[in-house]
Amino acid sequence: MSTLKKQAARGQDSQVLPKVPVPPLKQTLDTYLKCVQHLVKDEQFKKTKTIVEKFGAPGGIGEVLQKKLLERRDKTANWVYDYWLEDMYLNNRLALPVNSSPAMVFPKQTFRDHKIALRFAARLIRRVLEYKSLIDARMLPVDVARGQLAGTPLCMKQYYHLFTSYRYPGLKTDTLKVDMNTASSTSEHMIVACKNQFFMLDVVANNKQLNETEILSQLEKIMKMSENAEEKHPPFGILTSDDRTEWAQAREALIKDQTNQDSLALIESSICVVCLDEPCGLTPSDTNRALMMLHGGGCERNGANRWYDKSMQFVVGMDGVCGVVCEHSPFEGIVMVQCSEFLMKHVTGSPLRMVQPSSARALSPPRRLLWKCNSHIQALLGASGDRLQRLVNNLDMDVFTFETYGKEFIKKQKMSPDGFIQVALQLAFYKCRGRLVPTYESASLRRFQEGRVDNIRSATPDVLAFVKSMADEGATFTDSEKMKRLKDALKAQTDYTIAAITGMAIDNHLLGLLKVSKELKMERPDIFCDETYLANNHFILSTSQVPTTVEMFCCYGPVVPNGYGTCYNPQPHHIVFSVSSFWENTETSSAVFVKALNESLLEIGDLCNRSAAAASQPTESSQAAS
Ligand code: COA
Repeated sequence: MSTLKKQAARGQDSQVLPKVPVPPLKQTLDTYLKCVQHLVKDEQFKKTKTIVEKFGAPGGIGEVLQKKLLERRDKTANWVYDYWLEDMYLNNRLALPVNSSPAMVFPKQTFRDHKIALRFAARLIRRVLEYKSLIDARMLPVDVARGQLAGTPLCMKQYYHLFTSYRYPGLKTDTLKVDMNTASSTSEHMIVACKNQFFMLDVVANNKQLNETEILSQLEKIMKMSENAEEKHPPFGILTSDDRTEWAQAREALIKDQTNQDSLALIESSICVVCLDEPCGLTPSDTNRALMMLHGGGCERNGANRWYDKSMQFVVGMDGVCGVVCEHSPFEGIVMVQCSEFLMKHVTGSPLRMVQPSSARALSPPRRLLWKCNSHIQALLGASGDRLQRLVNNLDMDVFTFETYGKEFIKKQKMSPDGFIQVALQLAFYKCRGRLVPTYESASLRRFQEGRVDNIRSATPDVLAFVKSMADEGATFTDSEKMKRLKDALKAQTDYTIAAITGMAIDNHLLGLLKVSKELKMERPDIFCDETYLANNHFILSTSQVPTTVEMFCCYGPVVPNGYGTCYNPQPHHIVFSVSSFWENTETSSAVFVKALNESLLEIGDLCNRSAAAASQPTESSQAAS
């Protein structure tokens, strides 16, 4: 082992990070009131204020719950982890595609023929194995925070979940199983999906991992086998695209048969799924590629060529539409990016060259997974397919690259790029709807043990003041007044960001208090039954920064029926936005939002330019003096 690798390994093993704090109760309640006041009607706010004050009063319920949370913090590595995981993912009954699983979209690849596409897939699989070896040996260098409060080491645990997790559907709640024991997690097979059939690809033969040539030859065999119409099984993968309760019920029907049980066990214990997709038949625009990653295009295209419960699904389309789809519960988008970048840097780093067939061992063909179907299961497959089709028809996606400037311009204004983009998103929404709405921005908690995320509530009172000065009251404000409001909005956003990444945001804390009250079998406290609380946990704008250093972008769906999912990737001189919404909702339109966003970014950029130009003009008195 090289010294560098040893250091990296030691770094991960000896990582002792602080525990996520429990914020002071009063601080959270005060912030909560500040976050919601301008988003609800005055009458409603008065009611909320009374409820919150009662909750937080000395000797009130809040104190009892807070005490329990502090005890929980002492007893656990991360007091909020399980509460958050259940609330954010496992209890959610919605289908994983679009509603929960994000995707990374790779640049469109050019494959002259199937053979070249399979070579790309073989190389990708080799890199996955290399990356997995680094993870298993705990040899990935420890990530260090960048941006705000840069320099602190970050928790690496999410990486260990990449190839060892499986999300089991449940009737009421799902179960996430993670095998963290590196010795036993030496899974030696992947699942390859091809033409809706599933194959077991052993990646080790006679104690030696397959090389690229051998993997390619196995993939070629898989492709051939998938074409055999007589051995074709129904598209069982479609079941995993369904609502979680529906899938759990279907799974119960499946496991009555041993053959199905065996096939499920092989998928569940695999390293990952590799989906060899048929050409989708669409222009490979950014938007269409994003759609194909998020839902596969339904049964008519590649929607059944997936197994959504598995954490990592690598998609290689024969038409060059490629990317990764992730089951989100075991890790955050940032970890998915690190893995994707490692793969892409090596897969596309050198030309896809011919591999020497002589270096390949003769291996027995991969095994096709077998299924037993009956009329009941056949009906379930049909129903799942219909529901996926509805989701496919409903997703309104618009991937937009803003080219006028990127984060370098924003930094030159001495402003935080993330804050600036959040402010622009608020202005865009205000332009569309004349009001602000509860907004979610994910903030990493990886500075803490087992840290995941908390929420930056970006629709602050300060940003409301700014967007009003830009939109409906635009003519009555001077540039310097608008600039002052912009700076105030950015300060509020940056302050909230710093609070969130240091564990002082309010969403996890309020969730913790609610969960403790449930554990104590209390009646649900008024604060959590209040209309304000419910409305402010309905995130019409769900946003997340997922930056990359390699050309690719992340996308995901809205989290509520009347909302937008907005993922952004700030680059030095441009910004990629993936905006999603649902066609069925008449209040939203991704194209309209994108248009407003473009205008907002241009207007704020112009304001900064005008203000900078005005500041550099000599004033009248200095001119007179000179
Ligand atoms: N003047 C000049 N430069 C500034 C500045 C200012 N006032 N404020 C910030 N910058 C610089 C930073 O130093 C940083 O520089 P770098 O690119 O050299 O590192 C850069 O601008 C970016 O900083 P900023 O835009 O403020 O944000 P950030 O990078 O700290 O990101 C969050 C903020 C909230 C996105 C980040 O903390 C986070 O939590 N990311 C994870 C989100 C996540 O989990 N997403 C996936 C969910 S699935």
